Amino acid sequence: MASELMAIENEPQPINAGLPRKPRILLAASGSVAAMKFANLCRTFAEWAEIKAVATKASLHFIDKASLPNGLVLYTDEDEWSSWKQIGDSVLHIELRRWADIMVIAPLSANTLAKISMGLCDNLLTCIVRAWDYKKGLFVAPAMDTLMWTNSFMEKHLTDVDDLGIVLIPPDTERSVCGERGKGAMAEPSDIDTAIRVFLEPPSSDSGSSNGMEEQS
Ligand SMILES: Cc1cc2nc3c(=O)[nH]c(=O)nc-3n(C[C@H](O)[C@H](O)[C@H](O)COP(=O)(O)O)c2cc1C
Repeated sequence: MASELMAIENEPQPINAGLPRKPRILLAASGSVAAMKFANLCRTFAEWAEIKAVATKASLHFIDKASLPNGLVLYTDEDEWSSWKQIGDSVLHIELRRWADIMVIAPLSANTLAKISMGLCDNLLTCIVRAWDYKKGLFVAPAMDTLMWTNSFMEKHLTDVDDLGIVLIPPDTERSVCGERGKGAMAEPSDIDTAIRVFLEPPSSDSGSSNGMEEQS
């Protein structure tokens, strides 16, 4: 399956963050039951990165806000519109794009994957993705029922997001999701954390590559 070819091991080589500050990671959740692990994911990244969070309306059914790290701002679609009143006001999805060095969507639902694949942008999360600067890393960790994962749409949609430059963090093969055995369960938060750390590792002196992270005020 094309997804195997897009595994994290084959994606951007580790490159030098080179920043005098912590990396800024924008963590986003869409409406998979795996969003129950989103607070855990946020706590893991908060140990070493500056984080902000974005949640789709559906994902809010699964996120335990009380378990999020203290002080973490969780942006929703309402914030996109309440923060904009007139020309000249900042636009939240653009501000978050500018702020972030890296975006991680975990979990990525089948619905949000399909929307990204087609370029749709009807909520805060998908507007950020549509406006994303692909010189910066964008990672996705899908999570869904096994038959959703093996549905014939999947290969097409994964190819589309790979073409955009989005990096797949593949789901687990052996664990169960929605009570079934098979592929589709989101990678563990610790594995997602490791994937991003590898991306940010300093390069070997002769690699000359860049991860798009620039010093920002
Ligand atoms: C209890 C429940 C669990 C769900 N789990 C998943 C899931 O694991 N993966 C998935 O892709 N969709 C799942 N869905 C369906 C999505 O929530 C639905 O497609 C929703 O529109 C996704 O919206 P979003 O992509 O904007 O977050 C689930 C729905 C329900 C009601």
